[in-house]
Amino acid sequence: MDRNLALEFVRVTEAAALASARWMGRGDEKSADAAAVDAMRKAFDVVRMNGTVVIGEGERDEAPMLYIGEKVGQVSEDAPFLDIALDPLEGTTICATGGAGALSVIAVAEHGKFLHAPDTYMDKIACGPEARGKIDIDKSATENIHAVAAALRKPLNELTVVILNRPRHADLIAETRRTGARIQLIDDGDVSASVAAAWPDSGIDLLMGIGGAPEGVISAAAMQCLGGDFQGRLKFRNEEEKMRARKMGVLDPDKKYTVNELAHGPVMFIATGITDGALLKGVRFHGDGKAKTHSLVMRSATGTIRAIEAFHDLNRKPDHKN
Ligand code: FBP
Repeated sequence: MDRNLALEFVRVTEAAALASARWMGRGDEKSADAAAVDAMRKAFDVVRMNGTVVIGEGERDEAPMLYIGEKVGQVSEDAPFLDIALDPLEGTTICATGGAGALSVIAVAEHGKFLHAPDTYMDKIACGPEARGKIDIDKSATENIHAVAAALRKPLNELTVVILNRPRHADLIAETRRTGARIQLIDDGDVSASVAAAWPDSGIDLLMGIGGAPEGVISAAAMQCLGGDFQGRLKFRNEEEKMRARKMGVLDPDKKYTVNELAHGPVMFIATGITDGALLKGVRFHGDGKAKTHSLVMRSATGTIRAIEAFHDLNRKPDHKN
């Protein structure tokens, strides 16, 4: 994959972040999401590639733009054929309430290298490079916590596990507490929480619990770049979801997916902060049409991680002006 494309893609997440950031804290999830989707869709038009959305805003019948299967990019015969996993606004509620850690994200792989994950839940576990190969979603939370603590050479009361704060996690939270490990409960945003599990000095060592399956594929791409580990298992809410998954090629609904099966390298992961979070600063509006964005660009091929602060003059970008 052409490494220069990574910098083309950051324009795409920047555009979505700039558009949705104007909706921060305004209590309007739909408008925040629509702004991000619209801006991301437009920004793709200038990226020279034959792109196909494989993780997107839903299926064709439910999403007007960036739906699964949609072709994106400036199509040309000699441009690369790429699969795109995207979430223009990861953390819709976070953005609408002005909370921490909303971001715009895309992951890119060669054709056929992402799991075509249906819009259902996924049981997930993610950790950093030191514990790669030591986690197993088939094992209990207690066993995984002990394995990661041993790999990091940390006593349990120094290990931090991040879990989505949901009633479905009551048992997981209780079991984690019994081990003596520390917990950070988050209201939303398990992509950035997964990245944090593999990010040095983030204060997070392990992510466990059930979140969105599309977010699981995007997180797995980030783990490939960071050298971390990730496993997932789809969790269906009903028979209809299972049937949709079968149509998308999921033959074994109980399969345990490894990081390589979710996102097979080489992959790129690109994210821009919308609201302030542990990894990324949110969009800053400086007045007079000026704004600043903070993004991460990562490639699994080399493991290079670039943090990009971009200063935008929106007066010169008519599409970004409100
Ligand atoms: P959205 O941006 O689509 O609202 O997703 C936010 C999120 O918190 C994800 O990070 C997470 O995977 C999922 O929702 C969890 O789903 P639920 O809110 O149904 O528990």
